[in-house]
Amino acid sequence: MSDLIKKLTETVAFIKNEFKEEAGIGVILGSGLGNFIQEVTIEKEIPYSLIPHFPVSTVKGHGGKLVLGTVNGKKILAMSGRFHFYEGYTPQQVVYPIRVMKMLGVHTVLLSNAAGSVNPNHKVGDMMIINDHISFFTPNPLVGKNDEELGPRFPDMSEPYSKDLIAKAISIAQHANIELKQGVYVGVTGPTFETRAEYQLIKAIGGDVVGMSTVQENIVAVHGGMKVFAMSIVTDLGIRDEENVITHEEVLQAAKEAEPKFTFIFKELIKAI
Ligand code: HPA
Repeated sequence: MSDLIKKLTETVAFIKNEFKEEAGIGVILGSGLGNFIQEVTIEKEIPYSLIPHFPVSTVKGHGGKLVLGTVNGKKILAMSGRFHFYEGYTPQQVVYPIRVMKMLGVHTVLLSNAAGSVNPNHKVGDMMIINDHISFFTPNPLVGKNDEELGPRFPDMSEPYSKDLIAKAISIAQHANIELKQGVYVGVTGPTFETRAEYQLIKAIGGDVVGMSTVQENIVAVHGGMKVFAMSIVTDLGIRDEENVITHEEVLQAAKEAEPKFTFIFKELIKAI
C-alpha cells in the first residue's frame, strides 16, 4: 500500500466514524461563498484541524470545516474553506480532500470560486459556468508516481466539466430568469492578482475569467472518475480603467453580493442530480 493510500485510508476511517451516512455530492465553497452552509441541514461538522492528515486553511473568508448534511433531500459533504497552492500547500495537499471525498463515496463534485474577468461582456457580480479550463502554470497535482487505485496515469481531459450538469444548471437558471454566463477559467497560482499585461494575455489565449483555485481540484476529481460542475462569481474586472486597483476585500464583497443567486443555483442543481 502506498503512503498516500495509507494516509487516505486513515483519514476516511476517522471521518466515517464521525459521519455514519454516505454523501454522493461534494461541494467546495469559494472565497466569500461560505454562507451556502446556512442552507444545509447540518448533521455533523468537523473542523479540518481535527481530521488526520488534512491541511488547515489560513485565508480570511474561509471557514475551515467539513460539513455533512442535507440539501433538498440529498446528502452532501461540503468543504467550507479550501486549500490553495498560494498558501504554501503542495499540489497534493490542495487536492487531498477531493481524494478523501472520492473514497467516502462522492460521485459528483460542485466547485465554486471568485474570479477576475477578462471578458468585456462580463460585469462584477456575474455568474459564469466553467465549461473548460486552462492551467496557466499551476503545477499538475498528478505529477509523480501514479497510484492506479486512484485513477489512470494519463487521464482524458476532453470533458473536465460535465456537459450534463451544465445543461441542468442552464435549465434551472432559465426557469428562474437568472442570467448565467459560460466560459473558460484560467487557473493561476496567485497570490498576486495579474498585471495588466497578464490579463491581456489571459484574454488572448481564450480565457474568460482567471482565478487561483479549482483547476487542481478538477484534475484530481476527473482522475478519480467523478463528475464535476464549477461556477465562478465575477468579483473584479481584469481589463479596466487605469486608476482602479483590485483588493481582496473587494473580491469578498462582490462574492457576498452574488451569493443568493449562486446559492439558489447550487441548491436546485443538487436537487436535480
Ligand atoms: N485574478 C486571480 N484570482 C482572482 C481574481 C483575479 O483577478 N479575482 C478573484 N480571484
